[in-house]
Amino acid sequence: MAQTNGHNGHAAAEIKDRLVIPAEGFAPPPAIEQPNIFPLEWPVATESLVALYEKAKLQAWNPSDLPWNQLDPAQFTPEQRLGIMYWYAVLAVFDGSGPAVFSRAMIQSYEVHAEDPIRKCFFTVVRDEINHEECCQRVIAKMVPNGPLRFEPRTDLERAALNNLGWLYHNGGRYWRGFSKSIDKYPLSVLFTSFLLGEVAASTLFHGMSQRTSSPVFKQIFTKVGQDESRHLAICLKMLENDWPGLGQEYKDLITKQLRAGFVFLSMILWEPPNLFWDLPPYFLANHRVLIDYARQGGLGVLTYDEQAANWRLAIAKVRKVVEQWGIKFPAIPELDLDGVDVGNITAADIIPVF
Ligand SMILES: [Fe+2]
Ligand SMILES: [Fe+2]
Repeated sequence: MAQTNGHNGHAAAEIKDRLVIPAEGFAPPPAIEQPNIFPLEWPVATESLVALYEKAKLQAWNPSDLPWNQLDPAQFTPEQRLGIMYWYAVLAVFDGSGPAVFSRAMIQSYEVHAEDPIRKCFFTVVRDEINHEECCQRVIAKMVPNGPLRFEPRTDLERAALNNLGWLYHNGGRYWRGFSKSIDKYPLSVLFTSFLLGEVAASTLFHGMSQRTSSPVFKQIFTKVGQDESRHLAICLKMLENDWPGLGQEYKDLITKQLRAGFVFLSMILWEPPNLFWDLPPYFLANHRVLIDYARQGGLGVLTYDEQAANWRLAIAKVRKVVEQWGIKFPAIPELDLDGVDVGNITAADIIPVF
């Protein structure tokens, strides 16, 4: 019986007999050409990143399970529906780029043979961002069928919303071109700092909105998404803790500039866009404010202009405290009356940050 255990019925002894041991010795495999996509091993240097990966698995959630039937479009006026759709479409300019941006960063982490939990943590961020994007998609579909870009506008407000969103989409495309051109040029630590500001911004934003919204469905979305964003923040912080001590001055200066770029980019969703990077027509901001006011009136939970500014200041103060510990200077943010280093103009090529 023991002799017929092999899958083709050969006796175990015969299998071993087929092994070839060359008389001149084994030929060494060719050196692996670099960059190579994976190390084919799973090194762990940072145990806390393993824990964050496990936490991500435990906190996994399914957007389909949210009580969408409680989100009745009839409870809002047409203007409020449009405003809420508009806010989610603005958010989608950020969350919609998340999956591709973090996928690219995940590939990068494989190419540079980052430790295994870093590769896996990036994967969980991609997974989460797909969920966040799905929430945008679902709310938009509920509020304005064929939104954000393919509905038939019938009023001035709808025409203004459609036009503003077209401009935002154009800027989202510019962001991606800048990001994908620059990813090979920066070490992961520079990327992480850009992500760090985005994650702090996102967790602050969703936390504030979850407390302010009058809709139980929006509350659940903001709470779930906020929980993910706090975890992304923890991941970024851990990675940075490892990387920053070895950073040269050149990269430290680059990070200072990236923090300014992060402010410029993220202000579109956190507050209002500064007059840098964003390529927008002169009427954009006036119409943006009207649409956001309708979203606010509809109970979405959008903070006021001043509350948003205060929130931004708070988020920036957190990041500032962290980076200054590592001898990285903080950029001036004159829009919020925060002083620091003047890093000059911010162009599309400078923008890396993402939620
Ligand atoms: Fe997100
Ligand atoms: Fe995130």
